[in-house]
Amino acid sequence: MSVKLLFFAGSARKASLNKRLVKAASLKAEEFGAEITIVDLKDYPMPIYCGDIEESDGVPEAAQKLAEIVKQHDGIFIACPEYNSSITPLLKNTLDWVSRLKTDATPPRTPWHDRVYAIGGTSMGMMGGLRGIQYMTQLLINGYQLQVIPQTVAVGRGHEIIEDDGSITNPQVEAMLIGSMKALVETAQKLKS
Ligand SMILES: Cc1cc2nc3c(=O)[nH]c(=O)nc-3n(C[C@H](O)[C@H](O)[C@H](O)COP(=O)(O)O)c2cc1C
Repeated sequence: MSVKLLFFAGSARKASLNKRLVKAASLKAEEFGAEITIVDLKDYPMPIYCGDIEESDGVPEAAQKLAEIVKQHDGIFIACPEYNSSITPLLKNTLDWVSRLKTDATPPRTPWHDRVYAIGGTSMGMMGGLRGIQYMTQLLINGYQLQVIPQTVAVGRGHEIIEDDGSITNPQVEAMLIGSMKALVETAQKLKS
């Protein structure tokens, strides 16, 4: 059974290493038969969350559009840059705005619910943003109450290891990414069936 997977990075930067990781991960998932969508968060600009903005203007159109895309997918891979051992403000802001949209379920659920998540990250350092990935894992599980697979992927020296076209020059990193995408596809399939 084919599953639909959404891929995005927590960076809007043109030369983002995490966008390279998104490309690499999506290619591996495709090999496992998944249907792939890649979005760039730069195409979904939102103001920094403020309850006053929500009260006066509602949830931004960009968040609503992204939520509609999220809802069409069985699983999501997020490539998460590390900022000071945490995640980027862009990523947190996007997660929060979309979480303000609720479904009719009781108790209310957000568009992020009802699908499975895999987390990766890369940086030029040796750790590949591992602390940010760990933070993000806890955040998705405890904060947003989402299902996250344990096969996270931290790619140190990402600028040397992941090419622009998504190819990977290090066989161990490639094996790690393959393992993560296999688990994401299989878990998404189980959830769907
Ligand atoms: C505010 C800020 C904080 C950062 N903190 C860390 C850090 O804690 N650990 C790390 O490995 N890299 C850190 N970096 C470097 C980023 O991880 C690196 O620039 C990465 O390439 C950003 O992701 P991107 O290439 O996908 O945009 C930081 C960068 C910025 C701008």
